[in-house]
Amino acid sequence: MTVKQIFDSMDYGPAPEAAGDALAWLVDQGDRFGHFIDGVFTDPGDGFDSRNPATGEVLATLSQATQADVDAAVAAARAAQGKWARLGGRGRARYLYAIARLLQKHSRLFAVLETLDNGKPIRESRDIDIPLAQRHFYHHAGYAQLMEAELPGREPLGVCGQIIPWNFPLLMLAWKVAPALAMGNTVVLKPAEWTSLTALLFADICRQAGLPKGVVNIVTGDGAVGEMIVNADVDKIAFTGSTEVGRRIRQATAGRGIPLTLELGGKSPYIVFEDADLDSAVEGLVDAIWFNQGQVCCAGSRLLVQEGIAPRFHAKLRARMDKLRIGDPLDKSVDVGAIVDPLQRNRIAALVDANAEGETYRAACPLPDGCFYPPTLISGLSPASPLMQEEIFGPVLVSSTFRTPDEAVQMANNTRYGLAATVWSENINTALDVAPRLAAGVVWVNGTNLFDAAAPFGGVRESGFGREGGWEGLAAYTRPGGKPKALKPVAAFDGDEAEPQPVDRTAKLYVGGKQARPDGGYARNVFDRRGRLIGQAPIANRKDIRNAVEAARGASGWSSATAHLRAQVIYYIAENLAARGSEFAAQIDRMTGGKSGAKEVDAAVARLFTYAAWADKFDGRVAQAPLRGVAMALREPCGVICALCPDDVPLLGLVSVMAPAIAMGNRVVLVASEPFPLAATDFYQVLDTSDVPGGVVNILTGSHADLAPTLATHADVEAVWSFSSTDLAAEIERGAAGNLKRTWVNNGHSRDWLGAEGEGREFLDAATEVKTVWVPYGA
Ligand code: NAI
Repeated sequence: MTVKQIFDSMDYGPAPEAAGDALAWLVDQGDRFGHFIDGVFTDPGDGFDSRNPATGEVLATLSQATQADVDAAVAAARAAQGKWARLGGRGRARYLYAIARLLQKHSRLFAVLETLDNGKPIRESRDIDIPLAQRHFYHHAGYAQLMEAELPGREPLGVCGQIIPWNFPLLMLAWKVAPALAMGNTVVLKPAEWTSLTALLFADICRQAGLPKGVVNIVTGDGAVGEMIVNADVDKIAFTGSTEVGRRIRQATAGRGIPLTLELGGKSPYIVFEDADLDSAVEGLVDAIWFNQGQVCCAGSRLLVQEGIAPRFHAKLRARMDKLRIGDPLDKSVDVGAIVDPLQRNRIAALVDANAEGETYRAACPLPDGCFYPPTLISGLSPASPLMQEEIFGPVLVSSTFRTPDEAVQMANNTRYGLAATVWSENINTALDVAPRLAAGVVWVNGTNLFDAAAPFGGVRESGFGREGGWEGLAAYTRPGGKPKALKPVAAFDGDEAEPQPVDRTAKLYVGGKQARPDGGYARNVFDRRGRLIGQAPIANRKDIRNAVEAARGASGWSSATAHLRAQVIYYIAENLAARGSEFAAQIDRMTGGKSGAKEVDAAVARLFTYAAWADKFDGRVAQAPLRGVAMALREPCGVICALCPDDVPLLGLVSVMAPAIAMGNRVVLVASEPFPLAATDFYQVLDTSDVPGGVVNILTGSHADLAPTLATHADVEAVWSFSSTDLAAEIERGAAGNLKRTWVNNGHSRDWLGAEGEGREFLDAATEVKTVWVPYGA
């Protein structure tokens, strides 16, 4: 282009970033890579090409890890872990800091290599991916430094298997590796097969930082290697990628007793109210859906515009789309780069081409040859249209209109996902009314796609579970100290007293604030230690579970009630239980054949006091993200939690599970102690007299093993907990894969319910989700 032509068109001239150093680094490595295991690069094995998607050129050849490679990586990580943990947080902080410094020093090389490998515009890799990765290591060097002082009693998990996608290759690595290392774990990480190069450069940085061998191990390959890691002898799996693979990993790890975090897909709403600053909202959309070609899990891919401004807003949007520059990702003035791989490009095209609904608008800017896809807007779709529901994972925005804020919330939440949401309004009341009602782990107000190491990120619903970033993200890489004790099955006593009874002593279920006969009409005899009949407990079935869940869903007012009110109700339960203490104690002693009934009742009353205390004190926080504004990490209830209660302490166990859940605003379906169910059936009389709204607490009795699968697979339940003495971890975790609900299972370990491990933050954490709401201060 001549200077005259540039003046005539007033267009940007090309400003390509030099690729020489990055290409030279690849040549230095021989253009062929092995894995990074135990501090050294292995010899390259059979593998596959890694291409530059913008040009189709082969950048390097990568090795497909074999089972032996994965085993060697896990063994190296295992061997290194003890020493790495014993180094202490302060010792580890030095290494994390050194890595951060080196990432900073080599940031240009990382940025260029990332853009070559992934196709994302250099402006993004240079200004977003690489700086955020550095920030993650700096920030987590700090957590390592503070671990012993601020997280007393927490221990590393051990060896972490980590599997990451191709959309933010180095950044996702940083999100996984930094917290794991900071907390004293070692890792085996697999980058995505399309984008492994910056992970291998990172391995080189680990060497330069003098990181002890075996602390970071990187194996390359496709999903088969991912599966090997999932099935390996690791102590945790952290995965970011598609919901489909996440679901498979949930099934594969079910019952293995290893923690799992899943950061999965999304179809995040981008809501524009009529009083929004429309030009800013259009600019925000560029960052929401055309950032990284829309290949972003939290992309604002579903535009919801208030009806009155929709024509004007769409006109502005189309005009802006036409100005987007698509082309050579290394060009500093390019807005939209290449799609990561022809396969992904074809996936996007197939989804769009299959749609016949609405109006499709493609950006006018010329499209280069190769693996590119034009910024696209599809408007006028019905809410049920596949394009409104399915993750496209490309530069394709779908759009719909709404009339009222309530309708906006309802449409925004009409999705199986719940990763992120964006709200644009100049009216603080509208924005802050809508933000908490959105089913999403992250909400941005008048901004979008803001991320920081200090601010937790993660989803609800089928967008996965667990948080990355912030203090909250560390929980996923630590566990409480101490050796767990094995679970002892607790069996009911047998007896043979004949029926019928002179007076029917059959207890009922408790559903929606009312006593309910079991659907099946069956009950079982409950005997004391000497085989004398004490009473009968109903046997709940799937229909009873459905009714109880429906009642719990209906009691949603509890979740929005003030914490002060919830505290008052829990204090009132405590008071009423204390008033009938001796009666409960006698019943417990009779059922269990023990003498600790009085102690158990006392502990249950104390526990209720504890959670009444906590109800309005388990605060969120404001994260120190580098922004003129606030990133609020709020604690929200999960929703409906179903719990199999402990068998050994029939009253205390039920209270220990119920109280933290309802204190945090959840509604619960409790399945009482299986062998000793009658304390629970008496307990609902206490609830009845304590102003607990109907449906907040529902109590069922019956076989834990029979009921667990229905609880685990119920689509309207957000979390399932199991403290049963029947080990149902595998069953529950496998069943939960369907809608990816949260699970908290005892994995064959027992808990001392009378002691400190029977209450506290662990329970409150499990009873809440963290929602991060970003509110910039404005101009
Ligand atoms: P994917 O979920 O298959 O791949 C992500 C990572 O998981 C890669 O490292 C892959 O090798 C690995 N993997 C694949 N199968 C595995 C298995 N069975 N066990 C363990 N690891 C396995 O994602 P893919 O196929 O690259 O993209 C498909 C779609 O997934 C995209 O179109 C997009 O909708 C979504 N996606 C979402 C991401 C997110 O950040 N939420 C990231 C990447 C993809």
